[in-house]
Amino acid sequence: GANGAKAGKTRNLVEAMEESGKNCIIFYGSQTGTAEDYASRLAKEGKSRYGLETMVADLEEYDYDNLDTVPSDKVVMFVLATYGEGEPTDNAVDFYEFITGEDVNFSEGREVPLDNLNYVAFGLGNNTYEHYNSMVRNVNKALEKLGAHRIGEAGEGDDGAGTMEEDFLAWKDPMWVALQRKLGLEEREAVYEPIFGIVEREGLTKDSPEVYVGEPNKMHLEGTPKGPFNAHNPYIAPIATSYELFNVKDRNCLHMEIDISASNLTYQTGDHIAVWPTNPGEEVDRFLDILDLTDKRHNVISVKALEPTAKVPFPTPTTYDAIVRYHMEICAPVSRQFLATLAAFAPDEASKAEMTKLGGDKDYFHSKVNVHHLNIARVLKTVGNGKKWGKIPFSAMIEGVTKLQPRYYSISSSSLEQPKTIAITAVVEKQDLPGREDPFRGVATNYLLALKEKQNGEPEPTPFGLTYEITGPRNRYDGIHVPVHVRHSNFKLPSDPSKPVIMIGPGTGVAPFRGFIRERKKMVENGETVGKTILFFGCRKPTEDFMYEKEWEEAKKVMGDSFELVLAFSRQGTKKVYVQHRLKERSKEINELLEKKAYFYVCGDAANMAREVNTVLAQIISEERGIPEAKAEEIVKNMRASNQYQEDVWS
Ligand code: FAD
Ligand code: 2AM
Repeated sequence: GANGAKAGKTRNLVEAMEESGKNCIIFYGSQTGTAEDYASRLAKEGKSRYGLETMVADLEEYDYDNLDTVPSDKVVMFVLATYGEGEPTDNAVDFYEFITGEDVNFSEGREVPLDNLNYVAFGLGNNTYEHYNSMVRNVNKALEKLGAHRIGEAGEGDDGAGTMEEDFLAWKDPMWVALQRKLGLEEREAVYEPIFGIVEREGLTKDSPEVYVGEPNKMHLEGTPKGPFNAHNPYIAPIATSYELFNVKDRNCLHMEIDISASNLTYQTGDHIAVWPTNPGEEVDRFLDILDLTDKRHNVISVKALEPTAKVPFPTPTTYDAIVRYHMEICAPVSRQFLATLAAFAPDEASKAEMTKLGGDKDYFHSKVNVHHLNIARVLKTVGNGKKWGKIPFSAMIEGVTKLQPRYYSISSSSLEQPKTIAITAVVEKQDLPGREDPFRGVATNYLLALKEKQNGEPEPTPFGLTYEITGPRNRYDGIHVPVHVRHSNFKLPSDPSKPVIMIGPGTGVAPFRGFIRERKKMVENGETVGKTILFFGCRKPTEDFMYEKEWEEAKKVMGDSFELVLAFSRQGTKKVYVQHRLKERSKEINELLEKKAYFYVCGDAANMAREVNTVLAQIISEERGIPEAKAEEIVKNMRASNQYQEDVWS
């Protein structure tokens, strides 16, 4: 791939550690960047507090058949996210298959092949999914079986309960103590050492052709982007159409069609599209201002890794403005540990004390920062009473703030009907929170909203007051474009169109089912016979957030009895009606369809809805077939294993 190991770079982890004089390598299996972040934080803390020589590494860039030769005075750490249905993250697939494989083969052929290996393990998971933290659990089991020595506990962070950060913090301290003992390390006063050096580039301006002002890579900089377009190389796609599906009481939902015809991108109904957002100008300004960088924002800088194994997470030379706007997740939740690190650079003693308190006191931090959804610049501004934090080295920000991540959307169009245009259905993320003057707004969805307004020639600034640089870096891309790539998924219609399908998709969970239904409608138009197609859709009120109403009517016209829409309105009457209630009302029919091997699909909210639907389905099977609930649950499990039950859920 475009970001694969550099030519000539070794894939031998022992060699890599030796060449660079490291005694601790921290691997991450990461999908959205959190595991990668945690790996970097462990590396930094190991170095500054214990004098470990640490390096962070992408699992996909190394081989594992010589794990049995890692010297026993070294340590290998694994920070592993579990993705979707208990799957490894994309970059961890090969490692996972290797280490859990039936016949793991090492170079030395010892009976206890890994008795040399010291390892540390932390997992990132979500307890609302069935296979909670299965990656770290299975890897830990496999390593134990091979005789490796774990230091500390195998930690588990839970995104479902919203305690990921605290789980990580609570796990790491005892782990460090155990590691200290094992390797005979001495704890010292943590001193901050920058990982990145910033060099001002006199003579270059932001208009110089070699200066990156948001282009994701060299091809884009040179104006010759070409495929393959992927997680390292987005396609800057024109927006074909965009409109609001509803807009009531400050809640709105977007429909956007993205033209991929001039690229070699392809998709299949049920895949995901990734949108690469841009930060809103207001937050970029706030961030640069609090760091006292406003005057320097367009200065050209080169960023260099001072550590041979560290990677600069964006292309350079570039500008502060471009880094902050296009490459840093500046609006994200802040970590307590990061605040503690920044205390050393406070503008005065009071701010230093306050930052230390926020960093050390979980409940205090929660009440001051988390409940208001403050981002890093807002925290600094509040804590310092508006004083600038100009003493913070920019490197500390590059290290401490996550890379800006693409957001995924379930494609809501059918590739059979429109192979070259991808539809997105996204609800704009906006929350009024106590103690805040302005609402909290999601990064990507408000960016999409601004694109919609621009595309339709609506007046600026947006009704939400956020401003974006949306015509693309250097305005090279005329018209309105959005950087995207496609991620293929296993969420698919049955290959035999005569099989019945049952779809559960409240709210934006309806997105992929719009694609499914349009696909089956197209099949009918092509003269094919399709099986029963039932959609359970839920929203608040028919007059508020009922999406695609006209489209369902059209589908009905073409598909007749083979299509059925079942509605659940939650704020219509006195009682909440949810999709799973409607499902239950149709127990008999649902069971009959399942016995005819109907496929069952759930999309949308992972936190509650998906689990409740699972429970209701098991109840239906139990009651209709007269079998114990435990047995019915087993049946649902098997349906999942055989892909008869598929989920596309997010939290
Ligand atoms: P973000 O800025 O990422 O914020 C999201 C949430 O993070 C906030 O609501 C808040 O809870 C938390 N948060 C962010 N910043 C802070 C802070 N400073 N402090 C505290 N909390 C904070 N969405 C759809 O609308 N339609 C779809 O079809 C769809 N499909 C998806 C498919 C998949 C596979 C996945 C993983 C997700 C899907 N999503 C979908 C969700 C989507 O990817 C985004 O998460 C969503 O649009 C919000 O993105 P955002 O950038 O606007 O919000
Ligand atoms: P509510 O917000 O009125 O509670 C789309 O968001 C729809 O899903 C809304 O009607 C919402 O209802 C509903 N919803 C909320 N929680 C749900 C749950 N646990 N299961 C099913 N639907 C739910």
